[in-house]
Amino acid sequence: MPIQSASDQTSLRGLFALPDDMLYLDSAAHGPPLKTVRAAAQAALQDSTTSWLGGIHWRADVERVRALAARLFDNDADAIAMVPSAAYGLSVAARNVPLQAKQAVLLLEGQFPSNLLPWRMRCAEVGASLVFARRHAGQDWTSAVLDTLDAHPDVAVLALPQAHWRDGSLLDLARISDQARARGASLVLDLSQSLGAMPVELDAWRPDFVIAVGYKWLLGGYGMAWLWAAPRWREHGQPLEHGWMANDRDALWQADSRGDVLPLAGARRFDADGVCDAMRLAMAEAALRQVLAWGIADIAAQLQRRTVALDDALERNGLSALRTHHHAPHICGVQLPPQRAEAVKRALSEAGIVSTMRNNCVRIAPHLHVDITEMARPIEVIAKAL
Ligand SMILES: Cc1ncc(COP(=O)(O)O)c(C=O)c1O
Repeated sequence: MPIQSASDQTSLRGLFALPDDMLYLDSAAHGPPLKTVRAAAQAALQDSTTSWLGGIHWRADVERVRALAARLFDNDADAIAMVPSAAYGLSVAARNVPLQAKQAVLLLEGQFPSNLLPWRMRCAEVGASLVFARRHAGQDWTSAVLDTLDAHPDVAVLALPQAHWRDGSLLDLARISDQARARGASLVLDLSQSLGAMPVELDAWRPDFVIAVGYKWLLGGYGMAWLWAAPRWREHGQPLEHGWMANDRDALWQADSRGDVLPLAGARRFDADGVCDAMRLAMAEAALRQVLAWGIADIAAQLQRRTVALDDALERNGLSALRTHHHAPHICGVQLPPQRAEAVKRALSEAGIVSTMRNNCVRIAPHLHVDITEMARPIEVIAKAL
């Protein structure tokens, strides 16, 4: 049985199916495998009554899992759609928010491609352009975004994360939203790197769309991502594709094939066909139940203890110049001198430490299976290899 406390370190490790000789610090790439999620996937495949799409419980299963995902937001299942990827959800958002010729979409420099390419396409379609917030030395992302907004009165959409995927550096979305809303711009959020590890503040952010993958901090499987839509998009939003699952089946399946197309209630109109098979639903359900049982605030607090322990280890080793300032509770980076990056990467891998390196920055993204005392290990390896 999953335990309820995110602070009970001795039992936490046993909930994850990880090799003993591996220090997995790469939850920002893929969440560590929960044993309950694996067992749920296997059971779903073996159960002949659920493994068939359209099985007897299927619609109820879909709605039960949707309601669980809604608890990450404002507990309103009508706000939630099931989509296959962040890129898909962000493409839905890019298709819907207003954007005209000569206007602009504001992104972060180096933002993840799934939250770049849909905007590039939409801009090309309507004759709009992209503008990128760039940080100067010592600057945080929030003021870089606000400076960029000031410099570009033509910005009509901001498409941003809560924490940068490369090093976890944070954005103050409430402050950014105030400025964006004051000028009537839309706000689209890719929370793939924070949903499940940091609380959502819908009232402060007032976003149009929020999208997040399920396989990172939500600890689910690949191929099931979440889309939250603001009320007006639940009423009038256009889906990306027109499948039967997002529409009223009784109306569609008229004998003469000319049945009315009536979107299902709320954000269900954005549900993608082909996503909610029994295995993915079962994995999402097991993962969401565990994440919700721990509680997002407790997960954030516990993960912060781990990244703070890493920052402390950097300081002890005289390496505080390499740390990420103002980082999220759950992700931080160690910025390496470019000429030593390859040697550090090799040393970490030889030590059985799994992490990702991007732009000479080692991204450290622990989950609850990591003991706080283990957070010094990557820094000791890095210090030796420098
Ligand atoms: C910020 C961010 N968005 C999205 C994704 C994944 O996007 P997709 O589901 O389109 O593969 C990642 C994966 O690393 C990410 O870091």
